[in-house]
Amino acid sequence: MKKSEIISLLNKDLSGEIEAILIYMRDSFVTGDCKPSREMEEIAKDEMRHAEKLAELIVDFGGIPAMEHRPLNFGGMDVKEYLKRLVALEKGAIAMYKEHIAIIPDKNIKKTLTHILHEEEEHLEEFSKLLKGQKG
Ligand SMILES: [Fe+2]
Ligand SMILES: [Fe+2]
Repeated sequence: MKKSEIISLLNKDLSGEIEAILIYMRDSFVTGDCKPSREMEEIAKDEMRHAEKLAELIVDFGGIPAMEHRPLNFGGMDVKEYLKRLVALEKGAIAMYKEHIAIIPDKNIKKTLTHILHEEEEHLEEFSKLLKGQKG
């Protein structure tokens, strides 16, 4: 696999992290309920650490962090709908990290992505738990 291909995959991961940071931050601002709001904020900080690690890997490989993201989709209009969207985002991140861990040959990158993957699995669990706790 060429360096440029690895950089492009890492930039895709970075885009996902930036999308997550922005959506989780906004959701934490508009969620009045204290527990989910705090959790969204805390997990946004985890995603920021992931973005930092990915950006470092990209630069180490001679690339430039693209800092791009897809148009933001916040899901619906209430906390339950936000949480459904957050669960979907974590599931998407998990699938992408698994795919990239499988195809990127570099051991150091695999290790970093695996560490991130495990945190995404914890996020999924946390958001799923909060979603189950919502009425209606
Ligand atoms: Fe992340
Ligand atoms: Fe996450």
